[in-house]
Amino acid sequence: MLSFHIETVGCQMNALDSELVAAALLREGFLCVDSPKKADIVLFNTCSIRQHAEDKIYSALGRLKFAKQHNPNKIIGVIGCMAQKDNQEIFRRASHVDLVVGPGQIALIPELIHRIQRGEGPQIELSLDRKAHSRHEVESSFESYDPLREAQARHNPYLSYVRAMFGCNQFCSYCIVPLVRGPERSREAEEILAESALLVEQGCREITLIGQTVSKYQDPSSGARLSGLLERMNDLAERTSLERIRFVTSHPNSMTPDLLQAVRDLPFVMPYFHIPAQSGSNAQLKKMNRGYTIEKYREALAQIRETVPGASITSDFIVGFCGETEEDFDATMRLVEESRFKNSYIFKFSPREGTKAFELYEDDVPEEVKRRRNNDLLALQNRISEEDSATFLGKNVEILVEGESKSARKIAHTADSDGLISLESLAPSTIQLTGRTPCDRIVVFDGAPNLVGTMQNIRITKTSAFTLFGEVL
Ligand code: 5AD
Ligand code: SF4
Repeated sequence: MLSFHIETVGCQMNALDSELVAAALLREGFLCVDSPKKADIVLFNTCSIRQHAEDKIYSALGRLKFAKQHNPNKIIGVIGCMAQKDNQEIFRRASHVDLVVGPGQIALIPELIHRIQRGEGPQIELSLDRKAHSRHEVESSFESYDPLREAQARHNPYLSYVRAMFGCNQFCSYCIVPLVRGPERSREAEEILAESALLVEQGCREITLIGQTVSKYQDPSSGARLSGLLERMNDLAERTSLERIRFVTSHPNSMTPDLLQAVRDLPFVMPYFHIPAQSGSNAQLKKMNRGYTIEKYREALAQIRETVPGASITSDFIVGFCGETEEDFDATMRLVEESRFKNSYIFKFSPREGTKAFELYEDDVPEEVKRRRNNDLLALQNRISEEDSATFLGKNVEILVEGESKSARKIAHTADSDGLISLESLAPSTIQLTGRTPCDRIVVFDGAPNLVGTMQNIRITKTSAFTLFGEVL
């Protein structure tokens, strides 16, 4: 039996794509293994959002060159965003690669692997270049999607992503995503619900609807917006063991009253919003082509806090974007100070060839300035996260128990040189477990292994910036 291994980097879209590829390969009878060394087929599901992510993949490919010389039948594939962006360049830089597949073609992977096995040579499948073709042509070239789900292919049987939207039309000037993931398209609500119902049958208890701009979702058949889809997902939860519904990522321009009211009124929809601000400076937002001013962003936050009190909000920021002055950066610091985000994901600007920023502006903020701004913003956010976490001390929170906490798992694995020791074989009466609150805060506590997959009330006894610690009530 042939075995495969998928290495995944990047966002939720990639995590879901890898799961779908793994599911398709399992259905073909391939075996999933946990190391690239042992696998007959090694796939890298890649990210192009920053240079660093690409460099890491080229080094990982370099490390497999010897393995391929040793075993010429080993199949090495590069799939996802970097495949779409670099296409033939990948074969030039790593001639031992057999397979290059863009994110719009991942459903073809089993067939492409069979072609390689039949001796048909290296295979490449990509979507059409968005800049050189009509929208309709590009859209149909992005159409391959296999919605069949397999519980075994998921990292966690109780949690899963469901794609609500593909692609992005925002064209933020720094961002490669609209070029590699194609035009924005919403899926039919019926399909999303059918896929979700299948997941629930497989035991899934939390579903996160994903899309680059999921708050802009619109059902192609009925025209219903995200609020309508959430209502139907909430109905599904009423009838089944589905407990929680989330959605990411939102765009500040589409936080409409119907969406906020849906989050407020639908009991199974969690009070959590990820709404990247990217910068606190109007001059930078304009250059970034974000389509809003900082006043409008603040207004969106105020609306959320008024309609859904207690909701948590997270954000993304880019520091050191082209021409960012100390004043621009101070404005970002002020925004973070006053917004009380639960967490912020902070990135140093990385120029991406093919984007508007790459063509128009100079990457003129020195690396050490980017690093300092990154650290300053991170320190500020950590202080805020710590203060907000501390307000949970002594409170009770409801969590969905996701599994063993990662730090505990590491200890269990190092206990055995083969890394094969299982939780069952350890059979402890309690282990360190983890789950999340409705507003997406991580909770760690001691409990019996059979609590995994259940809802529990936890009293919080200790807090840190990103983790709450507690005990089962
Ligand atoms: N450089 C740095 N960060 C970027 N992001 C997107 N493009 C770039 C880039 N070229 C960040 C944005 C986005 C997150 C997913 O990645 O903050 O919200
Ligand atoms: Fe990139 Fe902007 Fe689209 Fe997000 S909204 S994927 S940052 S272009």
